[in-house]
Amino acid sequence: MAEQAIGIDVGGTGIKGAPVDLASGELLADRVRIETPKPATPAAVADVVNRVIDQIGDGGPVGLTLPAVIRGNVVRTAANIDPGWIGIDAVELFGTSTGRLVGVVNDADAAGLAEMRFGAGRGTNGVVIMITLGTGIGSALFVGGTLVPNSELGHLPLRDGDAEEWAAESIRESEDLSWKKWAHRLQTYLELVDRLFWPDLIIIGGGVSKKSEKFLPHIDVAARVVPATMLNNAGIVGAALFAPHTGPGASG
Ligand code: BGC
Repeated sequence: MAEQAIGIDVGGTGIKGAPVDLASGELLADRVRIETPKPATPAAVADVVNRVIDQIGDGGPVGLTLPAVIRGNVVRTAANIDPGWIGIDAVELFGTSTGRLVGVVNDADAAGLAEMRFGAGRGTNGVVIMITLGTGIGSALFVGGTLVPNSELGHLPLRDGDAEEWAAESIRESEDLSWKKWAHRLQTYLELVDRLFWPDLIIIGGGVSKKSEKFLPHIDVAARVVPATMLNNAGIVGAALFAPHTGPGASG
């Protein structure tokens, strides 16, 4: 049987999980989704993660995403999550609460790794940047297929603030911007990313990548820009790749 792990994507509105075949990147069962608790404190999130795992009903190691910088297993930032996460050793927290082997990774890094292995980035060497557009802006930077973790390009300074406060998908919604107006903001942001990193490929992820025909035609930068192909499942699949296991995993 193929090696598998559970992937759990902890997002601002939902906590989603499924068992994943690590060789093919396919979900081995329907995904389970439970609303993110409010406030999403570490203890409350750990409870919901346990309920998700119970519903999946599968053994094995677990990989989890968080929308935060994770360095040495410790959560370092909390731009869009409960401030109570800062300083928490997330591997210890979830390891204790689930009683399993766990790995924890930044959400955009997970989605990026999934796209590199199984989606839009497959076979691309050189410099690849995945940009996830959602509540905030996340990023994953790859050089020759290797992840440079916690790149946090959503916090590049732009227009007197963080880029994500001006160009995220949530801003398009809250300011009721037309697709064209928002695409202009995205163009300004991607020009900045392009000028600083000169990537060969930029992959646009996040839920909005499903509607890429509405904004990608307005984007023109030196890098090739393509929509993500794994859509909703990239976070779960990428999380599973970071679960501690012996098969084809996060190291390559
Ligand atoms: C966080 C990143 C995260 C991104 C997308 C940003 O505000 O700083 O860590 O990847 O949002 O969720």
